[in-house]
Amino acid sequence: METKKLKDDKNGIKTACEILKNGGIVAVPTETVYGLAANCYDEDAVKKIFKAKGRPQDNPLIVHICDMEMLKDIAREIPEIALKCAEKFWPGPFTMILPKTEKIGDCISPNLDTVAIRLPDNEITAEIIRQSGLPLAAPSANRSGSPSPTTPEHVWADLEGRIDAVVYSDECSVGVESTVVTFCEQPPRLLRPGGITPEQLRGVIPDIVLDKAVLAEPEKGKQVASPGMKYKHYAPKTESFLVEGESDAFSEFVNSKSDSVAICFKEDLEKIKIPTLCYGEAKSEETLAHSVFAALREVDEMGAKEVYIHAPTKTGIGLAVYNRLLRASGFKVITL
Ligand code: TXA
Ligand code: MG
Repeated sequence: METKKLKDDKNGIKTACEILKNGGIVAVPTETVYGLAANCYDEDAVKKIFKAKGRPQDNPLIVHICDMEMLKDIAREIPEIALKCAEKFWPGPFTMILPKTEKIGDCISPNLDTVAIRLPDNEITAEIIRQSGLPLAAPSANRSGSPSPTTPEHVWADLEGRIDAVVYSDECSVGVESTVVTFCEQPPRLLRPGGITPEQLRGVIPDIVLDKAVLAEPEKGKQVASPGMKYKHYAPKTESFLVEGESDAFSEFVNSKSDSVAICFKEDLEKIKIPTLCYGEAKSEETLAHSVFAALREVDEMGAKEVYIHAPTKTGIGLAVYNRLLRASGFKVITL
C-alpha cells in the first residue's frame, strides 16, 4: 500500500480525518511518542493496527479523546479519584484504566471489561479527534518490539507501506509513553511508569500502589495486569546491557569492552574511549526521557556487537526511562 506523508496543517488534518472516517489507519503526533490511530468504534480498522505493527492480539489499546464529554461513551464508571487525576494531569501523558461501556468492542481490550483512556497534549491530534468526532484507538506507531517512535522519520522507517498515512509534525517533547494507572481497584495501581512521575501521582493518590512488573521481570505463564509489560520491548538488535554505577566506574568498565558501544550521559563522555551515543544529562531525567528511544534506534547503525547503557536513577521520569531500558536489555543488569 502507498503511505501518504501529510503536513501538520489544515489540509493534512482534513485528509487524516477523511482516512480515519473511511476505516484507514494514520500515524499521529502526541507529546509522548507517535501513535498509530484508528476509529475505536470500527473493528476492521482496529484490526489493521495489529496487523501493521505485528502486535500480539491480546495486548489492549489506549483510546484517545479530546474532551471530557467523549469519556462518557467509553467509561462506564468514573470514580471521584479518577476525575481528580483527569483534572490535574489532562491533557497530558497520563492513561486511566476504567470499566468499559458496551460501545468498546473486544478488539480494543480483548477478554477484559476495562479500557485504557488518554487525553493527549498535542494540538494537531486534538484537532483530528475533534474534527472527525472519533475517539482514536492508538498504540505507539512502531513495529512491535522495536523502540517507540519520537519523530515522523522513525514511524516512516518502521511502517512505510503498511499504513495509510503519517502526519509529519514535531519531535515528541516528552519522549517516553504515558503513565498507566488502573482505577478498577482500590487503591489505584501504577501499571506502567511514564511522563507523569510517581511523585506527581502521590500528590493526588497518596496510597497509590506500584505494580511489581514495573521493575521486575514477569514470571513466565503468570497473569500480568498490563499485558504490554510482558513482551520483550524497545529492543535494539545489538545485544544490550543496562549498567548501574557511578560515572568513573561506568567509564572504566566500558573502556575494557572492545567491539562495543556505550549509551551514556554527557558527564561520562570525556572519560570514555569506545564509540558513544549520549542520551542526556544524568541530573536531568527529562533530557534522558526525551532522547532514550532515538538512541536505542541509532545504536544499530553503529554495527557493534554489544551496547552498554548507563542506567538512570529511578526518581522522577527516570523511573520510566529505567523501565524501558530494563526491557530493551532483556532484563540483563550489571551492577558495578
Ligand atoms: O503515550 C502513550 O501511551 C502512547 C501514545 C501513542 O498515546 N501509546 C502507547 O500505547 O504507549 P501502547 O499500546 O504502546 O501501550 C499501551 C499500554 C500497554 O502496556 C497495554 O498493555 C496497556 O497500556 N493497556 C491498554 N489497555 C489496557 C487495559 N484495559 N488494562 C490494562 N492495561 C492496558
Ligand atoms: Mg508501545
